[in-house]
Amino acid sequence: YWTPESFVDSTIKRIREQAGDGKVICGLSGGVDSTVAATLLHRAIGDRLLCVFVNNGVLRKNEFSDVQHLYTEKLKLPVKAVDASDLFLDRLKGVSDPEKKRKIIGNTFIEVFDNAVSEENGFTHLAQGTLYPDVIESVSFRGPSVTIKSHHNVGGLPEKMNLKLLEPLRELFKDEVRKVGAALDIPFDFLGRHPFPGPGLSIRILSDVTREKVRLLQEADAIYIEELRSHNLYDSVWQAFVVLLPVQSVGVMGDERTYEFVVGLRAVTSVDGMTADWAHLPYDFLAKVSNRIINEVKGINRVVYDISSKPPATIEWE
Ligand code: XMP
Repeated sequence: YWTPESFVDSTIKRIREQAGDGKVICGLSGGVDSTVAATLLHRAIGDRLLCVFVNNGVLRKNEFSDVQHLYTEKLKLPVKAVDASDLFLDRLKGVSDPEKKRKIIGNTFIEVFDNAVSEENGFTHLAQGTLYPDVIESVSFRGPSVTIKSHHNVGGLPEKMNLKLLEPLRELFKDEVRKVGAALDIPFDFLGRHPFPGPGLSIRILSDVTREKVRLLQEADAIYIEELRSHNLYDSVWQAFVVLLPVQSVGVMGDERTYEFVVGLRAVTSVDGMTADWAHLPYDFLAKVSNRIINEVKGINRVVYDISSKPPATIEWE
């Protein structure tokens, strides 16, 4: 019968057979799936693995450095971290259409990844953290997990780069991946992280993306997530995040009139992201988050809560 330990043992054997004496490249997104896949690969083939972690400029606050720290200090993975945020943000300039944002981020990711790989020699395989639901949903573009595949049309990446594909998790469901991750000593907090979309904060800024809007959203989102964790609510919701609305509202601060951004708080319960209910978070909690965001993030003067379920709404606003 299936145990995480037996899966780890048999998968390490299988990876060794598949990879032969080749070299494997693996994209890390900061998410659970790619991290578990990379850790398994590292156990199997050691330094014949290289992981690439790209900063696309629309990650959460401190995400690029925090996750790098976990990868290199705790998990000891061989990681090449590429900060391409300027390139991504320049290309996103003036773009409001969500599908265009996705396309720009997907294409730029391929380019940056491809460049990072071609600086090194002799790769034979590309590894991805594809899960079973991704395999069966591979036609659906708005898939529930953050794999290279769900970046717009990145499916062609291994062919383009002339690499063989390794997908060590393709028979697993999310809960099994978390168990395998625990068997690999990946920290529990990390394994319980909410899904995060490939296009990142760009699709949570409902207008054109600027550095200043990214910064505001990062600050507000960090407060929301911090409060969810400190109220022990983080694990009770499937996904939670802040959305920066393309609306400014009038407020008062002292005797001054303000005219600043409105943000929406989103939190949902779900099993697989295909359907979702808005989470009935306690009013006291929402009040605390709202107060903190308005007081601490200059540029935001109003907070609303999203009470829409999926369908007919989607989880993300774009
Ligand atoms: P929706 O908004 O379609 O989201 O209800 C369902 C799940 O998918 C995530 N999502 C994406 N993930 N690339 C991704 O990697 C995308 O373009 C994308 N769009 C949505 C969303 O965060 C949720 O978990």
